[in-house]
Amino acid sequence: MNRTVFVTGATRGIGRELVKQLAALGFHVFGTGRDEVRLEELKAETGCMGAGADLSDPEQVVDIYRQAKNALGQVDILINNAGLNNRKAAVVNIQLDDWEQQYAVNLRAPMLLSREALKDMAGRKSGHIVNVVSTIAKTSQPNYSTYCTMKYGLMGFTKCLIKEAREVNVKVTAVYPGGTDTDFRPEDRPEYLLPESAAKMIVHCITAPDDVVVHDLTYRPLVESNF
Ligand SMILES: NC(=O)c1ccc[n+]([C@@H]2O[C@H](COP(=O)([O-])OP(=O)(O)OC[C@H]3O[C@@H](n4cnc5c(N)ncnc54)[C@H](OP(=O)(O)O)[C@@H]3O)[C@@H](O)[C@H]2O)c1
Repeated sequence: MNRTVFVTGATRGIGRELVKQLAALGFHVFGTGRDEVRLEELKAETGCMGAGADLSDPEQVVDIYRQAKNALGQVDILINNAGLNNRKAAVVNIQLDDWEQQYAVNLRAPMLLSREALKDMAGRKSGHIVNVVSTIAKTSQPNYSTYCTMKYGLMGFTKCLIKEAREVNVKVTAVYPGGTDTDFRPEDRPEYLLPESAAKMIVHCITAPDDVVVHDLTYRPLVESNF
């Protein structure tokens, strides 16, 4: 497996498991996150490449794509996985910073990275972009309006991207994981998906036969009934 993959949010949770699984399958992987210590540990453990970046800064977003491309030779597969829901709040209590941070990381960064990757992939008439959305984009929940809004935005962006990218033979997938037991929330949720399992479903999308594009994949732990 000589294909190259750029994974955001590689330092923890689903992204970390993705890097481990992809490296074990022989993909050449470049990972990013802010936590340089965890990134170095991951590089030592898996043999992946990587560099730190804060995806809330649009200049760092474009620059980390350039670094990934230089390190890998080219980015065959982009996985926009980084995301956060740092403060749940009722609409009346939302602070401007909540909107701005979540817009920057959950929506603007994957849009910018998709733009950069598609420019290159269109030239080669091949490639695959995977955007990690959430089952929240299929439902709604009090105190989740900021996260919900950004993930609905990412869903809409990805649906349009699917149509533009197919014109240049590039695959695009939106994955909609349900609750997964990662550092994403402060409390342990052992009844939720293991991060390994959530990652495995993404690997499944990018290892589908060449003549198959998975446009969207929704998966949940059995306990989840928000549909
Ligand atoms: N866990 C769930 O229940 C669940 C369900 C559905 C969808 N999702 C989605 O799945 C994706 C991964 O979530 P997870 O559960 O694996 O979360 P996680 O364990 O909290 O990991 C989030 C990752 O995103 C990175 N990240 C966050 N803010 C960043 C920033 N400003 N700049 C660069 N990287 C940043 C973190 O790296 P650093 O801290 O090193 O920066 C970390 O590697 C997210 O898009 C999330 O919305 C999660």
